[in-house]
Amino acid sequence: MAGSKYAYVRNFELPDPLLPGTFMLLRLDGHSFHRFSDEHGFTKPNDLRALELMDHAAKDLMEQYSDIVLAFGESDEFSFLLRKSAALYNRRQSKIVSTLTSLFTSSYVFHWAKYFPDCPLKYPPSFDGRLVLYPSGREIRDYFSWRQTDTHINNLYNTTFWVLVQQGGHNTTDAHATLKGTFSKDKHEILFSHFQINYNALDARFRKGSTLVREELPEKTIANDDGAGTGEPLDSGAPAAAVKMRGRTKPRTQVVVLHCDIIKDDFWDARPEILAD
Ligand code: GTP
Ligand code: MG
Repeated sequence: MAGSKYAYVRNFELPDPLLPGTFMLLRLDGHSFHRFSDEHGFTKPNDLRALELMDHAAKDLMEQYSDIVLAFGESDEFSFLLRKSAALYNRRQSKIVSTLTSLFTSSYVFHWAKYFPDCPLKYPPSFDGRLVLYPSGREIRDYFSWRQTDTHINNLYNTTFWVLVQQGGHNTTDAHATLKGTFSKDKHEILFSHFQINYNALDARFRKGSTLVREELPEKTIANDDGAGTGEPLDSGAPAAAVKMRGRTKPRTQVVVLHCDIIKDDFWDARPEILAD
């Protein structure tokens, strides 16, 4: 199309291609969720509704973008791994980061009332997004180990902190002081000997975060096409469920939410496709 005399401004828009053949790691994080969680009465230390809503938004993203092979979420953040060979939006960085962050955010708002039926949104939440390229599977393994270790450290601290406050009658200043300089084993000990809480028996969702992967549907489930597969399918239907239509077969996978260890080899050995090209 012929340009107007103004069209030259377009030349100031610089291309922002991402290096080919590298893993893309997108991390989204709730903006000022300290305030957002307070204003919406999130339970402490973990709000199941809020975590399930995050999982739901992440699942929507994976269902829209087949290049996402793995996602991991905790607290107000979610990380998404895109395969090395992803050609999404010609690997334009701004396009990828802004579109995926936007979809996650709108999905979070779209599903809000399902998870918080008695608490209307007081203001629109937002998420920041950043994308980092990694050259090999080693960094990807270490990245996810880093996030899951963070989940563990934060959750052990927060659990002990809020038990001291809610069950031990400490005020928050005392609780901080009690935990200052403690090691992991000390927190386990406080929980166990003073409150009879075995940390390792607490819900794995809180201790391990949420890991979303694609799993093949068993044949039986495919025939039923009722979305009732393995794992924890969320309630948005099963768009990726296999449905045979006149010789055409849709992908026989669905996104499932796991709460498992992703630091040790087992998870990765069982899913070599995650780090494949
Ligand atoms: P920015 O990300 O820098 O904008 O700040 P932030 O306020 O979002 O803090 P950050 O991302 O570091 O941490 C997330 C915060 O969200 C936590 O510190 C909590 O205050 C809050 N939060 C996340 N999940 C929960 C939850 O399940 N329950 C409660 N009560 N609060 C939560
Ligand atoms: Mg945040």
